[in-house]
Amino acid sequence: MVEDRLGRVLKDVRISVTDRCNFRCFFCMPSDKKIEFLNRGELLTYEEITRIVRLLVSLGVKKARITGGEPLVRAHIENLIEELSGIEGLKDIALTTNGYFLDQKAEKLKNAGLGRITVSLISLNREKFASMVGREVDLGRVIEGIRIAKEVGLEPVKVNMVVVRGVNDDEILDMAEFCRKNDLILRFIEFMDVGTLNSWSMSRVVPAEEILALLNERYGIEAQETGDLSETSMKFKYRDTGQEFGIIASVTKPFCRGCTRLRLSAEGKLFTCLFSGRGYDLKALIRSGASDTELVEYIRSVWSDREDRYSELRSLEGARGAKKVEMFRVGG
Ligand code: GTP
Ligand code: 5AD
Ligand code: SF4
Ligand code: SF4
Repeated sequence: MVEDRLGRVLKDVRISVTDRCNFRCFFCMPSDKKIEFLNRGELLTYEEITRIVRLLVSLGVKKARITGGEPLVRAHIENLIEELSGIEGLKDIALTTNGYFLDQKAEKLKNAGLGRITVSLISLNREKFASMVGREVDLGRVIEGIRIAKEVGLEPVKVNMVVVRGVNDDEILDMAEFCRKNDLILRFIEFMDVGTLNSWSMSRVVPAEEILALLNERYGIEAQETGDLSETSMKFKYRDTGQEFGIIASVTKPFCRGCTRLRLSAEGKLFTCLFSGRGYDLKALIRSGASDTELVEYIRSVWSDREDRYSELRSLEGARGAKKVEMFRVGG
């Protein structure tokens, strides 16, 4: 077990397996911005990732989430899942995807040992969806991907909806209805000022309170206390059906106090916060021949030194405008 300076125990790792994506969501990787992607040789190999995760598990990590960019664009991602699922002590392996390749990949992922999946879905309107994801992609294919994921047993399937004022906030109830009907756990996400490319402003954030008021008026809702401070989402249920949904309110209700997440970027750097400007180059250490013991000591020292709590400090002078890493590089 290893604790940071604020007493937070390292428990989860989020792994970005690629910085590439077949979408160009305006709040993440806007299509009008020129983005330099990593070359293949710069990416951690699956062997390297597996080795790192095994060492992290020896330090107390129980949960790994695979992200990107879009993780399913990396070739044979199921091979990585298979390796990770062989690690004793790793209790939860999840993956966050845009859903586009699930029709081809869901069954392979399930067979490789993936536990559960989260699909990002920002609109149920075909034109708006294509415009928000910045590519002429077919919404129907993502919805079919979600259906297949459920069918092969990647349950529970969660749906992430980033809500942006004036763009898709008119679809909050439609999305709730869609997820209730299809038995999906919906999480509304406040638009975050992550990275440097997305022209974030507070006026585009729809606060959790506002979303909850809408849902309460329509269905009646109840908060569910989980007591788990390391969760990103506040959990609720609908009074009528008892189904669960959540809100990730990193802007209006920051959850840094319980943040137990370490991030591993596609190029093998450790980040102690989603909003951090600095990564710790684990890949350099690995490729210079470091032993397991040396790597463990390095990770331990990085975590022990950590005192990040960006979302709590956001409103304070100096936090904004700091050098920040792009989300698709560091694992959502
Ligand atoms: P569960 O394990 O199912 O609870 O998933 P998760 O919420 O940890 O992961 P997911 O990939 O679904 O992330 C949902 C949203 O929460 C995304 O917008 C993430 O960027 C955001 N998020 C995840 N971890 C953090 C974090 O540590 N800090 C902040 N500010 N946002 C986070
Ligand atoms: N604010 C909030 N969530 C975001 N995501 C991507 N960019 C942002 C942002 N600026 C979401 C994706 C995905 C998850 C990993 O992060 O939609 O669901
Ligand atoms: Fe791709 Fe996800 Fe970023 Fe959209 S939010 S561009 S799907 S990585
Ligand atoms: Fe953790 Fe940083 Fe997110 Fe706070 S802002 S919850 S410290 S990753």
